[in-house]
Amino acid sequence: MVRVQESTAASSQEATQPVQGDWQQIQTDHESLRASAERLEGLLATLAEEAAGAADGHEVLDLLGRFHVQLLDHLDREERQGVLERAVATEPRFARLAGRLRSEHDMLRTHSEALVRGAAQLGWRPLHARFVEFHAIFVGHEEAENDVIWNANLEDLGGRG
Ligand SMILES: [Fe+2]
Repeated sequence: MVRVQESTAASSQEATQPVQGDWQQIQTDHESLRASAERLEGLLATLAEEAAGAADGHEVLDLLGRFHVQLLDHLDREERQGVLERAVATEPRFARLAGRLRSEHDMLRTHSEALVRGAAQLGWRPLHARFVEFHAIFVGHEEAENDVIWNANLEDLGGRG
């Protein structure tokens, strides 16, 4: 069995780097979440295919639970920091897109929670298929969010000035 390596980049960085800019922290979150999601998708694929050397299912479920907590922390951080609101204040043309992205936070929370709650009951194939679907939505959301923040030219968030 393939042992699941811990992906705790975000939490360890928070512990060792107490002061970071808002945007820098969000970027760090994005990179860590993306790496975790890619790893999870790969591990779930090996379990779904019952491949030789498939991952340890219990560890993958544990990793999924930790990804969910990491995602919730990240979404809460973005909302606390008001990054989308700040982007709209700078560039009102992003108001509609920012509103959509904000509402997608609740959808992502619900979707991720449903994956975690259903994970133990679902077979590996359905769980993998649902995670692939979630992953695509998550990546699309984060990319749109990055574009809004970047194009809003938020100097105080570390965007281009
Ligand atoms: Fe984000």
